[in-house]
Amino acid sequence: MSADHEIENLSHENRHFAPSETFARNAIAQVDLYAEAKADRLGFWAKQANNLHWHKPFTQTLDWTNPPFAKWFADGKLNISYNCLDRHVEVGNGDRTAIFFEGEPGDSRELTYAELTREVKKAANALTALGIKPGDRVAIYMPMIPEAIIAMQAVARIGAVHSVIFGGFSAESLSSRIEDADAKLVITADGGYRKGKASALKPAVDEALSAGKCASVKNVLVVRRTNQDVAWVEGRDVEWSEAVGNASDEHEAQAFDAEHPLFILYTSGTTGKPKGILHTSGGYLTQAAYTHKNVFDLHAETDVYWCTADVGWITGHSYVAYGPLANGASQVIYEGTPDTPDWGRWWSIIEKYGVSIFYTAPTAIRTFMKLGSQIPEQHNLKSIRVLGSVGEPINPEAWMWYREHIGGGQAPIVDTWWQTETGAIMVSPLPGITTLKPGSAQVPLPGVSAEVLDDEGNILGRGHAGLLVLTEPWPSMLRGIWGDPERFKETYWSKFEGKYFAGDGAKWDEEGDLWLLGRVDDVMNISGHRLSTAEIESALVSHPFVAEAAVVGAKDETTGQAIVAFVILRQNQIEAAGSDSDVSKILRDHVAKEIGPIAKPRTIIVVAELPKTRSGKIMRRLLRDVAEDRPIGDVTTLADTSVMQSISGKLAGGAND
Ligand code: WTA
Repeated sequence: MSADHEIENLSHENRHFAPSETFARNAIAQVDLYAEAKADRLGFWAKQANNLHWHKPFTQTLDWTNPPFAKWFADGKLNISYNCLDRHVEVGNGDRTAIFFEGEPGDSRELTYAELTREVKKAANALTALGIKPGDRVAIYMPMIPEAIIAMQAVARIGAVHSVIFGGFSAESLSSRIEDADAKLVITADGGYRKGKASALKPAVDEALSAGKCASVKNVLVVRRTNQDVAWVEGRDVEWSEAVGNASDEHEAQAFDAEHPLFILYTSGTTGKPKGILHTSGGYLTQAAYTHKNVFDLHAETDVYWCTADVGWITGHSYVAYGPLANGASQVIYEGTPDTPDWGRWWSIIEKYGVSIFYTAPTAIRTFMKLGSQIPEQHNLKSIRVLGSVGEPINPEAWMWYREHIGGGQAPIVDTWWQTETGAIMVSPLPGITTLKPGSAQVPLPGVSAEVLDDEGNILGRGHAGLLVLTEPWPSMLRGIWGDPERFKETYWSKFEGKYFAGDGAKWDEEGDLWLLGRVDDVMNISGHRLSTAEIESALVSHPFVAEAAVVGAKDETTGQAIVAFVILRQNQIEAAGSDSDVSKILRDHVAKEIGPIAKPRTIIVVAELPKTRSGKIMRRLLRDVAEDRPIGDVTTLADTSVMQSISGKLAGGAND
């Protein structure tokens, strides 16, 4: 892979934001952390691990004798839930709020560490009474209510293995995941509140288990959240309020091996079959806690933290259910959608609870940017001191808007790069140390080793784009793909011997900061020139007309691939933009000006919405189907399946060229 024709755009960012002196002085992570990790990487991780409570201390940090199967802290024993709960109560922090729960209808509930510990102990006893034993798999299909976290913690506490399935997934996805993991129990709720309505969950579970499917499931444990009517299978279905409500609140946490499995989380790969990513205990919690504390500068006594991710995603595991609790943080959990009852909901929650650390996704930020700053301006957001971003590259304009309008023009933004597979943040600024650069995830965290390689595995230096790899094992790395060790080796470890291939394109800029260029399958090749969808999207979004853009490479007989861009216009610019063909000309010229003529999209299609998964990721595969004039593939994971009809209708109606 040659970088000769590399289009320089993103890495020409020249805005820099150093931390304020006060922030830097009071920051948890100080600059010597980098030197410390560099001098003795394993010693550094052992030290982080020793911030946890070990029932039996470990003597060996890493066993890498049989790569890629790593063992971290292997001879140590611990209990994950004890580390997240009991130990905080034992040192006198039982009265600290663990969870500020905000229900979508406006109900709220606060749980202190003592109360949460008690609830988890009861749930642990209830699970044991249902016959769940260490190593058994438990599927969790829940709305964002405290019981989702109580369930995860209780499963972990008794050494069972959870598989959380996002509440937006269909019955079919649910049953294939339950079957793949042979789950014995499903924990669910009657439903949850979304967009002002009670939406049902239990019927999907009933359907998933119908017609002899999922024979491994013995019981379904049901939380009543909405009190809507639900079908009931006698002998199988169990009321949470009875099973957990009547259980004893005494439960002593047993110690499990550091490498005891903690959870499986399914994520999509390049094939149709989702991969069950397996994480284990000691290493996972070590890195989740370390990153949560240092990346977000968590001062547990005073901060109020809020991560908007659902527990159905890895972010909701590492940065809702585990990292914050391991650190004794107080966190907000919100059940609903950001537009209910109106688009001010998130900002009113920040104001209500005095949220000081806020972690969300670029797609949300761009949505808010599109709606305009007058919405957050109606709320007092002065409590915010750190902002985080995750899930995709954050384009510099969205970054600037986030800092300006949510961060009061001064809050540091940590753009955190990681994956379901990495378990925890790998590349990110540290807010008291790093001079921030909008759009770049910047540098590997202390303890993490990353490189950018060309296709042949040569290490690329500054100014070159290639493939991101992690060159040393890390504590929260995936331990495998459930039931498929070959696929694990093949997917991540076969491209470059001994190195973890992340599947992302990346580039070091001239200052040594890392820019993520999107999945490598999103990298296009136009007349032999490498172009990243992210670069072109960023250029498009830097034009005042554009709120959001998605770019795909469509097959082209002459140039190999051609760039097709789907754009959403800013609401207040639609008139100014004029007809679609005017917009197209203006934006093509703009991209040519920003990046170079080679990056000019062949086709620009103005759309009202982009096809997104429920976690907010744009499904480029579907856009490529449209761009290449193919029948549209599987749309079942879309948040709104009607989006594709409106987009293809638009094209059939005559998009410009
Ligand atoms: C992308 C989410 C750029 C990347 C935690 C990665 C990012 C995939 C960033 C993993 C970021 C995540 N900048 N790209 N800060 N964070 N990604 O498994 O392509 O849902 O490979 O984990 O999201 O997505 P996943």
